[in-house]
Amino acid sequence: MLKLNMEIGNIICKNNLILAPMASVTDLGLKHLAIHFGADFAVSEMVSVKGLKYKSKNTYDLLKTDEIEKIKVVQLFGNDPEVFKEVVKFKELDKFDIIDINMGCPAPKVVKNGDGSKLMENLPLAKSIIEACVKGTNKPITVKFRAGYEKNNAVEFAKMCEEAGASAITIHPRLRSEFYSGKANYDIIREVKGAVKIPVIGSGDVVDKESYNEMLKTGVDAVMIGRGALGNPEIFAKLLDKEIDLTKLEMIKLHYKILLENFNENFVVKHMRKHILWYLKGCKNATEIKKQVTEITKIEDVIKLLEKNEECLWGKLQ
Ligand SMILES: Cc1cc2nc3c(=O)[nH]c(=O)nc-3n(C[C@H](O)[C@H](O)[C@H](O)COP(=O)(O)O)c2cc1C
Repeated sequence: MLKLNMEIGNIICKNNLILAPMASVTDLGLKHLAIHFGADFAVSEMVSVKGLKYKSKNTYDLLKTDEIEKIKVVQLFGNDPEVFKEVVKFKELDKFDIIDINMGCPAPKVVKNGDGSKLMENLPLAKSIIEACVKGTNKPITVKFRAGYEKNNAVEFAKMCEEAGASAITIHPRLRSEFYSGKANYDIIREVKGAVKIPVIGSGDVVDKESYNEMLKTGVDAVMIGRGALGNPEIFAKLLDKEIDLTKLEMIKLHYKILLENFNENFVVKHMRKHILWYLKGCKNATEIKKQVTEITKIEDVIKLLEKNEECLWGKLQ
């Protein structure tokens, strides 16, 4: 059983459910829907500290937030403690309540620079990054990491994070070399939870009540959901036994609306294609519609197509 109201520093959660950071995926629309359905917060896509330091426009776009976000969390990545220390003081980060540090990303272009999960092989450097952030700001600093880079050192790493002043940690229990394959090893989460006093958030393979209950057995303080929320943000309401008060089509329309308030139509139509395919996952009769969605260039035409086919895609009662 999950003890509710997890505290991350001075920030208090309600449901102990979180939408995972997912680069190019966790956009303002998905974040809005996840929180609408019961997630306490949604972590931003990972944001490069160098991009912030050198004022890259694309990097700054990732700092946009939605008014539904009562707890705002930004995730930073990089490998230079001095840059972290400087950036956490930037006024553009003032609105965030928690700063998370990415020490788990497995992507080749990230680890080749010594960022993300590569930091799990260099505990002194990882520690000085956390300490630099803790010194640089009064906000709670959290760290998200994996089981390890090539070998499992999650417990040692978790203890180091706690010692360095992290207010909470998130563990996705796969090695860097495993990327997203195989099964997340929940024994590692259990070991990490037993090794530290700060809150531990579990991430990996929660897609329904059954997997959620398995995750809870590890003793975690909160559960983070990533891929299980793609095209399925209502998973949070399902786990909380709450009413799902939007149809799939209403979710899609809201997702578009929020993105359009922040980005131009050309970007939104292309970016939303992958989300629409996720929303259509599992629908019968969707093959032809999926194909058309990837070719249509106007949002109103995508909506018309989905409206016309709503009943055959999702049925009368969703
Ligand atoms: C497309 C994609 C992008 C991701 N990007 C990030 C990221 O920017 N930062 C991060 O810490 N984790 C990232 N992750 C990892 C997730 O946050 C999560 O830990 C992992 O997917 C396991 O959880 P899940 O099984 O619920 O998806 C990403 C995962 C996916 C699938």
